[in-house]
Amino acid sequence: MKKGKLIERTKKVLSPVLARYFELEVKGGRGAFLTGLDGRKYLDFSTGIAVNSLGHCHPNIVEAIEKQTRHLIHVCAGIAYYEANVALAEKLKEILPAPLESVFFCQSGTEAVEGAMKLAKYVTKKPGIITFKGAFHGRTLGALSVTTSKAKYQEGYKPLLPNVYVASKDIDSFKKVVAKVGKGKIAAAIIELVQGEGGYIIQDPFFVKELVVFCKSQGILLILDEIQSGLGRTGKWFACQHFGIVPDIMCIAKSLGGGLPLGAVVSSKKIMEQWSPGAHGGTMGGNPVACAAGLAMLEVIQKQKILDNVQSMGGYLKQKLLALQAQYPKIKEVRGLGLMLGVDFKDSAYAKHIINTCLSRGLVLISTGADGQVVRFIPPLNVAKAQVDNALQIFERVLKG
Ligand SMILES: Cc1ncc(COP(=O)(O)O)c(C=O)c1O
Repeated sequence: MKKGKLIERTKKVLSPVLARYFELEVKGGRGAFLTGLDGRKYLDFSTGIAVNSLGHCHPNIVEAIEKQTRHLIHVCAGIAYYEANVALAEKLKEILPAPLESVFFCQSGTEAVEGAMKLAKYVTKKPGIITFKGAFHGRTLGALSVTTSKAKYQEGYKPLLPNVYVASKDIDSFKKVVAKVGKGKIAAAIIELVQGEGGYIIQDPFFVKELVVFCKSQGILLILDEIQSGLGRTGKWFACQHFGIVPDIMCIAKSLGGGLPLGAVVSSKKIMEQWSPGAHGGTMGGNPVACAAGLAMLEVIQKQKILDNVQSMGGYLKQKLLALQAQYPKIKEVRGLGLMLGVDFKDSAYAKHIINTCLSRGLVLISTGADGQVVRFIPPLNVAKAQVDNALQIFERVLKG
């Protein structure tokens, strides 16, 4: 197909509301590479926004999808019990910190956040939710109500959910909000331990520990949004394992379906058992093909010890990016955990120039942060050192100008 044709057709029939990082047309992807319409290979360090954790079209995921489609594509978990659904939940229980062991499947991150907030409200019988500055939890109206990372996200949609309060990322601010609202009125606090769309900002571990203790003392449930940071991205299965904490409720999505749409709300049996049958649900949640793909993905990560690779490649990449920071004053900060790394230029126009120029040289990087001032590195978790070096080479050449 001629270059530009897909873009032209897209503009005629697809809504412009979906913001695009750039105008890249592809025909496929394999491993760490995307293939452009003209056959050009692009090293993909965006992984569909932290989804393709084993790269594109990993053979085990493809095989699991093919196999599952021959048996059962959809049935609805409310109609019948099926293997893929329970097998993925069992695998999650195996990798989740105790007592998180009971899973509700949905289809996306934003839906996992909706589910988590509904669960917290239902169980505590309280109306309030506290969120934090710089948070991103999704685009549906409930999740949007607790999303603060860009003012633009909420513009044009008010009124949103009532009883939502925003705290700064410190314990005094949080305690002040609780005191003002009244502790008997707060169902939950929702937090990302590494703020994703907010710009790859790691929460202060002391604050997180204090938050856990304070929430417990006040009967406030703690919801961790591990949608971007979970399932190995930070070098441990979940970011909370870096902080030594366990939430009451966790949201997972992104890579969970091995590239197919899948999300999950996870909690303890004790909490989940208070969510009455029918109080929440959905037609497509826990779709057999998505569950089979997700299970295959998790098994590869486990069997091939890919978390070790995330730690070593993450450490290597971070150290190299820090070395670039020392050389190029345009880089103001390098931060992140594992293979969830951000380079903050504190200059959105320059960050845009970087991602556009990297793309023209065959490297897909995307931005994040309130103004898109941070360039993020989120390669596949099984990325090879040669690929990291290749990405660094292109990035540095672009920095040089
Ligand atoms: C931390 C976090 N929460 C929620 C979401 C929303 O997920 P989805 O786009 O699957 O609805 C995202 C998406 O980027 C995210 O990074």
